[in-house]
Amino acid sequence: MSTKLRILSVLEQQKGQSISGQTLADILGLSRTSIWKGIKTLQKEGYIIEAVTNKGYRLSAKSDVISAETIRPSLLAALQDLSMHTFKTIDSTNDEARRLSSKDPIRQGIVLSEEQTKGRGRLGKSFYSPSQTGIYMSFYLKPNLNMADAALVTTATAVAVCLAIEKLTTKKPQIKWVNDIYLGDTKICGILTEAVSDFESGKVETLIVGIGLNVKEPSAGFPTELEAIAGFLTSSAEKASFDRNLLIAEIANQFYTIYQAIEERSFLAEYKKRCFVLGKKITFKERNQQFEAVPIDIDPKGGLVVRLSDGHQRTLSYGEIIM
Ligand code: BTN
Repeated sequence: MSTKLRILSVLEQQKGQSISGQTLADILGLSRTSIWKGIKTLQKEGYIIEAVTNKGYRLSAKSDVISAETIRPSLLAALQDLSMHTFKTIDSTNDEARRLSSKDPIRQGIVLSEEQTKGRGRLGKSFYSPSQTGIYMSFYLKPNLNMADAALVTTATAVAVCLAIEKLTTKKPQIKWVNDIYLGDTKICGILTEAVSDFESGKVETLIVGIGLNVKEPSAGFPTELEAIAGFLTSSAEKASFDRNLLIAEIANQFYTIYQAIEERSFLAEYKKRCFVLGKKITFKERNQQFEAVPIDIDPKGGLVVRLSDGHQRTLSYGEIIM
């Protein structure tokens, strides 16, 4: 581990408290000059490290830079070997996940970025991904699933994100089928699952699960076209000390726990509890057609079972609810 990351790891362990340059130097077996240089590099990378007279250095509770070294200690033991790739900026974490997994056909991992320049959503939409305010992460997996079951991973991911938010905050996120997570009337998170499959066997070779979660209100606000619908997880009072790294680790823990046992489908009950469209009259858009229906259930494959105006039942697997 580099000098700078060793310093960061000690500062992280006592985030918000000061530690003298000498103590840091003693703990790490480094000179005070090396500590000073390491601190300067971390500050340049965006970490808020204050130099407090007679007390030393303090990683501010407001410091919130996504880093693998900060995330890893909060991951479950079974995930300690996971490869993690972090970026300041990237076109799309899903695209990077696809590039990485094609180079390494065996390993699974996570891609994270502070910003995306070409963030993508479902149905050809873009996903607004401004710097340092959100979580843009993609898991790349080597599942032993066929295409139909791979669709369930999206459903499972929505549950994982809700459980992680509920564990670390007092918020009560809800799910709009298939994969949008809402807080009140606004969408705070979307999920884009993409598969690379073997044409002959029909098996999914690589599954990429991208999560875009608006954590803090972007300083310039949302673009006009998103203003009415887009929301964020933290209030202005909470956002100053919110640590995205902890939430990333918790999402990963919840996700992999559900994913290991995906065939048991026990997460579907959690999905239904949070799926706020069940029992409500909705307008559904499927390809270029719109129709009204009342969702009544989620089927074992994650499909939305609806009752149509003529009383017939149908299961929807593709499209979107436009309310
Ligand atoms: C949607 O709301 O339609 C899905 C949005 C998914 C956005 C995430 S952000 C991380 C990953 N990279 C992307 O380009 N998209 C997904």
